[in-house]
Amino acid sequence: MTRNIKLALVLAGLLGSQFALADAKKDTEMLKLATTSGCMTCHSIETGKPGPDGMKPIGPAWQDVAKQYQGKPGANEFLTRVVLEGSNPYSSHWKGKVSGLSMPPNAVAITEGNARKLVNWILALN
Ligand code: HEC
Repeated sequence: MTRNIKLALVLAGLLGSQFALADAKKDTEMLKLATTSGCMTCHSIETGKPGPDGMKPIGPAWQDVAKQYQGKPGANEFLTRVVLEGSNPYSSHWKGKVSGLSMPPNAVAITEGNARKLVNWILALN
């Protein structure tokens, strides 16, 4: 009997974590990593949030990034490089949609492994 109760609790726990993962936006571990790495100064997770002083956001909302790159082969690798090395202002991918001209390199603020983790998470947003 007690064994069944324990089993039920374990199963409930597993289901709970499944639900938590189903909404990637609320992944507190990833949010913390993004915040401590400085990303949230320029990015929001959700589409449609204004930037400072009501301007366009400085960088694209990560839901928009996900929409743009989801399912494209090599997107993880490409975006990890952009996060680490910065984007090229002469071939900006978000020109006119954001107020920032380019993303500065973040390699001083974040390790390659963590950049890859964040990019995988961003690409899983919906
Ligand atoms: C100083 C502001 C700033 C910071 C800090 C910043 N970004 Fe960006 N980010 C931008 C801008 C501006 C763009 C748009 C670049 C473009 O138009 O190509 C961008 C674009 C991106 C893109 C899409 C790149 C593409 O080529 O489409 C990703 C992914 C991204 N940022 C992730 C991150 C992550 C992860 C961090 C934290 C480690 C971060 N950014 C920190 C300003 C910033």
